[in-house]
Formats: sequence, C-alpha cells, structure tokens
Amino acid sequence: MSKVLVVGGGGREHAIVDALSRSPQVSEIFCAPGNAGIGAHATNVPLKDTDVEGLKAFALEHGIDLTVVGPEVALAAGIVDAFRAAGLRIFGHTKAAARIESSKEFAKELMVKYGIPTASYRSFTDYRQALAYVSGRPFPAVLKYDGLAAGKGVVIAADLAEADAALKDMLLDGHFGAGKVVVEDYLTGPEFSFMCFVDGTRVYPMPLAQDHKRAFDGDKGPNTGGMGAYTGLSFISGEQRAFALQSILQRTADAMAAEGCPLSGVLYGGLMATPEGVKVIEFNCRFGDPETEVVLPLLESDAYDIFSAVADGKAPACEPQWSTDVTMGVVLASKGYPGSYEKGFAIQGLPQDGTIVYHMGTKLESGVLKTAGGRVLMCINRGSSLADAAARTYAAVRGIDCPALFYRSDIGHWELNK
Ligand code: AMP
Ligand code: GLY
Repeated sequence: MSKVLVVGGGGREHAIVDALSRSPQVSEIFCAPGNAGIGAHATNVPLKDTDVEGLKAFALEHGIDLTVVGPEVALAAGIVDAFRAAGLRIFGHTKAAARIESSKEFAKELMVKYGIPTASYRSFTDYRQALAYVSGRPFPAVLKYDGLAAGKGVVIAADLAEADAALKDMLLDGHFGAGKVVVEDYLTGPEFSFMCFVDGTRVYPMPLAQDHKRAFDGDKGPNTGGMGAYTGLSFISGEQRAFALQSILQRTADAMAAEGCPLSGVLYGGLMATPEGVKVIEFNCRFGDPETEVVLPLLESDAYDIFSAVADGKAPACEPQWSTDVTMGVVLASKGYPGSYEKGFAIQGLPQDGTIVYHMGTKLESGVLKTAGGRVLMCINRGSSLADAAARTYAAVRGIDCPALFYRSDIGHWELNK
C-alpha cells in the first residue's frame, strides 16, 4: 500500500485526489496545500505548491511513495528535478520539459521546427518594433506575454489602440515583469482541450473536453481560468481527433524527446479546429483546470498505476480505460472574479444528490465552509447524454446557497444548441 502526496490546492487537485482515493493500492493521501473539500479524502499539508524544499523534506520524512504535481508553477520551479535528485518518485515534467508551457517562444520554435500546426508568429522584446509590426498587420491581433500568466497573459486586440495599450503593459510598464511578447495570427474555429498522459514517446489520450474561458454567458466578459467544462464533444470528428493525436500530441512528445527534454506527465493541447485543420493555440504541461474535473471521473483504470508508470518511465500494465459516459461541470466563482473579489462568505446547501462537488477555493472556519478564492466550487454530473448531465448539474448548482457566488448558465452551449 502506498502513500501519495498531491501538490496543489484547487479543483484539479481535488479531482486527482478523488481518482487516487479510488485506487486499492493507495493507503494514505496528503495534499499540499489542499483545501476544505480535499480534506475529506486527504490530509491537508500547509505547504505552498512552490515550496520545493519544504515539499521534498515532507516527502522524505513521511515516506511518500509517489508525488503527483498539479500546478505548472511547481513544475517550472523545478520540483521534479529536485525530487528525482533526492531519489523520490514524482509524476510531472522536469523544468526543461515544462518550458512547453512556461515559455511561449520555446513552444512556438518547437512547433515550427517539427511541423506541428499552429498560428504563425513573431516575438519581440522591444515595444516600438512590436508596435510597428502589429500596425502593419490585420486585426484582431493576438498578443501573448511570454511567461506564466495564469491564463491571463493573452490579449486579442481589436484595433491599434488596444494593441498599443497591451504592448505597453507587457513590454514597458513592467506590469507582468520585463519580458517578451509573441504576436501571432488570429485563428478562428471551435476550441477544445486534448490531454494525454505522456512518458517520453508513449502517449495515452484522455477524453476530449471543452472549457469555457469567458466569465459570462454567451462567451462574453473577461478571460478567466475557466468557468465550466464538459466531455463528449461531437463537433470534433474521429478524423480530426486522430490528426490531433498523431500530428500534434505524438509529434510533440517525439520532438521533446529529440530535443533532450522528454515529457513525463500530462501534455495538454489547447487546440482549435480551424477551417485549415486542427491547430495548437497553446500547450500546457499539466492537467487542465477545469477540464480535469470532468475528465478524471471517467477514468476506469487505476490512477495510481498510470501515475506510477509515468513516474518510473515504464509502460502501464494496460492502456488507461475510460467510460463512454459524458460529464458536465459548472464552476461557481466569487462575484468580481477574475477581477477583485471578497472572500470569507459562508456556503450552504451543497448537493446531496450524487453530484460530484470539487472544491476550488474553500476553507473551513470553525466548522463553517467559506469562500477562499476566485473560483470556489465546481459541480459535476455524468450521464449518457450531455443534456441529462447538464440538467442535473444546474439543479444542484441552483441549490447552493451563497449570495457571493456567480456561475454561467450556458456551459455546454456549443454542443447543446446545435
Ligand atoms: P491561451 O492562454 O494561449 O490559451 O489563450 C487564451 C485564449 O485566447 C484562447 O483560449 C483563445 O480563445 C484565444 N486565442 C489565443 N491564441 C489565439 C489565436 N492565435 N487566434 C485566436 N484566438 C486565440
Ligand atoms: N482550462 C485551461 C487551463 O487549464 O489552462
């Protein structure tokens, strides 16, 4: 029986902890820092996800058999390198491999070199040169800050004034920290998330999912970390999926191995089905959030087996198996998110009807569940149809009593309103 440490404290980590708690091989789960919901299946450990030394000391002291890393910041901070150097087993990419997400320019150069389809681009460090380039090109312009920006480093500028303001922000004002900007072509088409477990050149696909990044109904409002997600995407054909698996995800795994920084964790393709074929919008080096919350409940294989095999660089005993059900999940966020918001409001009326509830930002104060983050809870149901799963999820969401929360009422609209 094994002891596992999960690093992170959001809905994604709650889903990972939940999947691990279904494994007969796992005796004890710790989660750092965890949250109030995670505390029901795991022991929360008050260590930050970027406290690599503290986490390593904890793993050594508590005889942790396997560590599973959620957030990219921990990977980019080198947690995998540090754990492996100390002889600890860990699921996640090395710092060098995590550049597929932590550096947009690295990812773009790799895609160009290996013929992985994506929007063409130029990168800039100089504000004047960037502005001159953008002003000679069609709008909208896509401007991406080159670094980890928690999903908020992308600006789609409708005109030159907007582009100018964004470039000033990214290159002059030091708002994000001095850096680089990638300017790329604007693509159109439905977006979807394709996550795979990757161990070197072995790639095991997960069910496709779609996130809803904008804050409000009708895909309006500011970009967020994600306001809901679902699986069972019928607008992506088998042919498009096969193309994405072979010519994007497998090719990227092969490319990273050829570059001497093999992947060993999750590769997340943020993809777009453009009229010219499926292209990469972004890569992430970790499980997506909120996609993981709708994907992992469908895993029928033992999660510990898969994480262990990837951590050890071995093939798992058998290919990961997935349920053919679909899932649908809605995020409840603090009013004001993704801008400023207040925390500490009591939450009541959590569903008792079999709805899965993953906590994203909660804490317990004197036994009372309270809001403690921008995204607070996610409710998920599974079913044989999306409409059925959506109806049950929204019934559960409406029963939650906390006036400080809001949610989108149209998750899955792309699929449901066809
Ligand atoms: P990213 O953080 O790179 O996923 O970008 C956030 C969002 O910006 C994406 O989900 C897309 O909706 C949009 N986006 C990013 N790059 C492009 C592009 N080249 N063309 C059109 N939309 C884009
Ligand atoms: N759902 C988007 C992300 O995980 O980056």
